[in-house]
Amino acid sequence: ANPSLLILPGDGIGPEVMAQVRRVIDWFGANKDLVFDVSEDLVGGAAYDKHGTPLHDDTMAKAQEVDAVLLGAVGGPKYDDLDFAVKPERGLLRLRKEMDLFSNLRPAQCFDALADFSSLKKDVVAGLDIMIVRELTSGVYFGEPRGIHKEGNERVGVNTQRYTESEIARVARSAFELAKRRGNKVCSMEKANVMESGILWRDVVQEIHDAEYPEVELSHMYADNGAMQLVRAPKQFDVIVTDNLFGDVLSDCAAMLTGSLGMLPSASLGLPMGNGRPKALYEPVHGSAPDITGQGKANPIACILSFAMALRYSFDEGANADLLEGAVQKVLADGVRTADLMGPEGGTPVSTGEMGDAILA
Ligand code: NAI
Ligand code: MG
Repeated sequence: ANPSLLILPGDGIGPEVMAQVRRVIDWFGANKDLVFDVSEDLVGGAAYDKHGTPLHDDTMAKAQEVDAVLLGAVGGPKYDDLDFAVKPERGLLRLRKEMDLFSNLRPAQCFDALADFSSLKKDVVAGLDIMIVRELTSGVYFGEPRGIHKEGNERVGVNTQRYTESEIARVARSAFELAKRRGNKVCSMEKANVMESGILWRDVVQEIHDAEYPEVELSHMYADNGAMQLVRAPKQFDVIVTDNLFGDVLSDCAAMLTGSLGMLPSASLGLPMGNGRPKALYEPVHGSAPDITGQGKANPIACILSFAMALRYSFDEGANADLLEGAVQKVLADGVRTADLMGPEGGTPVSTGEMGDAILA
């Protein structure tokens, strides 16, 4: 059977950038004999408009069955006043939760042609290729007790950082597996100097390393130092593994080492299924960009690179992923730019579809 993909374009520029990914998928079918069974469905506001819920149960069931899900973006001003329970982002959160996608992969890769875009010096970022692995389903965003209560005359806000050994172990494994396919190096970041969960994090990552991945180079770093090092000398890293909160902050920081939001892909992986493939959702980091929706201005590269990640991490198609990333690299080197990639020197931007054309060519 062909590998299967569920495509959820979503809202705003989601369908616009996903249309270019569909063309890329068709290209692989026609030219590389790599044929996917593709189905498409609604998520977010688009699903709410049709079904009154941001993710229909049938769509959820389909997501559990396919080899990988590709999502565009959800949300928009039209849905801002909806009840929390049916807000577009709840569709995405439900997918992540029910598929148990605990490992969030955020690459920070510097395309040479865009090195001038970084807020850092060119030589600090040129050739940069690192991957942040963020634990996505536990930690302080979910820990109990939580809430705001009264103590005497004042209010107190409470969140709880909580990690079980198995939650740490599984995300550590996912980082080590990744490192084996890349530079064979993992840096684990926590605050073991001041947090109990940090002490446990460091211990468990070290134990998994010693027992299962002794051949991978492992180091530990306090997350605050990690933030400094990411900006000072990011190329010292290969894979960084960290918890939900630190990962949220560090991955956004790392992302901006390399430039535009329109360039950033991501993957969220769960446990391997019967066929050995992990449950997987691929999506650009950006949102639905209502300010440019319907104008043909959206940069499709983040979504196209998300599909490249799917080729690599779900389908073991590393050579074809390289081919696609190489095409993006080439197009940028040729000076093809959507509006978000225009520097101060100006020029004429291409449309979403023209960027797709260039990458296909
Ligand atoms: P956003 O990422 O949609 O847009 C931020 C800025 O970046 C805008 O100026 C936008 O035009 C630009 N931009 C984003 N992607 C681009 C692309 N591919 N090409 C060119 N320019 C691009 O974030 P914002 O404005 O905070 O949120 C807009 C909506 O998207 C909200 O409803 C928000 O909830 C939702 N959102 C959804 C996410 C998701 O689906 N995962 C993630 C972030 C926001
Ligand atoms: Mg964030």
